[in-house]
Amino acid sequence: MADIIAETDRLILRTIDEGDAVEQMRLLNTPTVMARLGGPKELHEIEAKHAKSMQLCAQRGFSFLFLIEKATGEMVGHAGIKLVDNPHAPNQGEHEIGWLVREDRWRLGYAEEAIRAVIDWAFGRVGAPHVVALTSEANVPSWKLMEKLGMVRREDLDFEDPDYPQEDNPVIQYSLTQEQWESHS
Ligand SMILES: CC(C)(COP(=O)(O)OP(=O)(O)OC[C@H]1O[C@@H](n2cnc3c(N)ncnc32)[C@H](O)[C@@H]1OP(=O)(O)O)[C@@H](O)C(=O)NCCC(=O)NCCS
Repeated sequence: MADIIAETDRLILRTIDEGDAVEQMRLLNTPTVMARLGGPKELHEIEAKHAKSMQLCAQRGFSFLFLIEKATGEMVGHAGIKLVDNPHAPNQGEHEIGWLVREDRWRLGYAEEAIRAVIDWAFGRVGAPHVVALTSEANVPSWKLMEKLGMVRREDLDFEDPDYPQEDNPVIQYSLTQEQWESHS
């Protein structure tokens, strides 16, 4: 049974449930959505990520979540908190926030609406000291959102990821402290 973590005007943010991998595969795992994320994943890769996320949720009380559109009950995105686990990152274990939205719902403000709730959760019940977000220069929508949220560019945390193509390197990072969040929002 999934837990509801937050509710916004248009979205419910809930934990991962059995059967979500197939829905994610169908609705979110498209070449367009996954273009800057290493391309679409196989079902078993999505299932493995869900298993890891559910384990993190059980151990630490946070994870990635699904965004459910209240008006339709449909899955429209995936966002949440994980621990930086890229083996090449210099800041493994820090609280990392991330997001993706179904392509037929882009530019409706869903990512921002969801991630504001995720950041409140991170600095509230989760008690994260700060959060980071990872992207690349090529992923303009993503870093523009980071800047809109008041996140601060951290060149000192950039790194090369040989598993990503050249156009998605280096991986760049932004960070946000609770103080920065409260003074920005
Ligand atoms: C990044 C992504 C989640 C944004 O989702 P979205 O719901 O369309 O974003 P929102 O409508 O909430 O936009 C919020 C802000 O993000 C930025 N933004 C979003 N899309 C943008 C675009 N195409 N170009 C420039 N800025 C964009 C803007 O700052 C925007 O604020 P504004 O509308 O006032 O200009 C979506 O494009 C996506 O799923 N991309 C593919 C997955 C991905 O790469 N995820 C990020 C991994 S790091």
